[in-house]
Amino acid sequence: MSLPMMDEEFLTNPYPAYRALQEQGPVHRMLLPSGLRVWAVVGYEESRSALSHPSLSKDIDASVQLGYFDREMSTGGTPRLEHGSVGRHMLNMDPPDHTRLRKLVNKALTARSVKKLEPVIEAISTELLDAAEQRAAAEGGVVDLVEEYTAQFPVRVLGHLLGIGPEHFPVLVSLTAAIMSDDNENAGANMAEFGRHLGELIGRKRAEPADDLVSALIQARDEEERLSDVELVSTLFLMVVAGYETTVNMIGHALRALFNHPEQLAALRRDPGLIAAANEEFLRYEGPGNRATLRFATEPFELGGVQVGTGEYVSVLLGAANRDGAQFGCPHALDVTRSTAGHLGFGHGIHYCVGAPLARLEMEVALRHLLGRFPDLELAVPDADLRWRRSFMMQGLERLPVRLHKG
Ligand code: HEM
Repeated sequence: MSLPMMDEEFLTNPYPAYRALQEQGPVHRMLLPSGLRVWAVVGYEESRSALSHPSLSKDIDASVQLGYFDREMSTGGTPRLEHGSVGRHMLNMDPPDHTRLRKLVNKALTARSVKKLEPVIEAISTELLDAAEQRAAAEGGVVDLVEEYTAQFPVRVLGHLLGIGPEHFPVLVSLTAAIMSDDNENAGANMAEFGRHLGELIGRKRAEPADDLVSALIQARDEEERLSDVELVSTLFLMVVAGYETTVNMIGHALRALFNHPEQLAALRRDPGLIAAANEEFLRYEGPGNRATLRFATEPFELGGVQVGTGEYVSVLLGAANRDGAQFGCPHALDVTRSTAGHLGFGHGIHYCVGAPLARLEMEVALRHLLGRFPDLELAVPDADLRWRRSFMMQGLERLPVRLHKG
């Protein structure tokens, strides 16, 4: 079984393909665009089970060392599991290493900790929207919200949290985009460059520590030896890669969903108190990632009626699971008042997104500011003219041209 994963039609709307698969069963043999053969999970219950299954490991280095990766690769694919100097992070690990590394960043990312960042997040958003408004006034009323707002907002928030200055943003942003793209032959080199860049940054921070997460991690490394050099660089790599594009794309998806559902937009405008619940519905309805990261079987087990063998890879298609009609009534309808309990937009199990409180706050501020400040905000081109980035890993709009004010 294969999905037309890189077709424009699939990139724009993968849901008919997911539905067709769900009708045939919850788990399918499939070839990823990278050439890797996997078990693709499309059913909600089976996805939830796979994300926390004791027989599925995230220790990707171990899978490569055991030769599973080579054995499973089809010819012509681009090896994407070799993360080199930036791959020793929590999302590639099982306990106890996973627990140790997650604990080091978790403290800075709890709901209580990120709440303290709210004034800074508000100020970043306001500054960007001031600039967008000026630009719109100078350019006939239309601006690209991706360029002016969504692509800049999360990187500046992350910069503040981590203590990374704006001079580093362009290179980190372009390397993140390259790494996320499916047809990038240079992913290994890009990751190595990312690692070098972060290494330099750590060197400078070591000389001049500040009240930020990079300095806290350096301190944990140098004074208490709670993580190694490679783990330090890898953790920062993961924070940028996992925390940047996801949030950029999620804010874009939420806005597009609202433009396509004017009655839902009107409901949010009438009652801004709905924004927090609406954000959970946006995560369910159209998340930024089509699939969770890979897991591999350390022993045979049964999942949704198929037998997964030792060393085989499992890919959970979160976008399919979140629209499984067996779990969510009318799954293809956007309803900002529905119960979304149990959605898998932030994953499930021990790898559940550690940045979820920050992502939720950023989404909330973005929507509150955009809807509050621009009562006539509307899409400036037909929805069919919007173009999508070419990535099966990350689903995102290339541009989002909007009119901020009427007339
Ligand atoms: C709307 C935005 C976001 C979405 C939809 C999202 C989604 C996810 C998902 C689905 C996972 C689990 C992946 C898996 O199990 O394979 C995950 C893990 C993770 N996310 Fe997020 N994320 C977002 C924002 C962020 C932010 C802002 C940060 C950091 C500041 C972040 C950091 C992480 C990290 C470090 C992990 C790995 C956790 C672990 O392995 O224990 N994410 N995210």
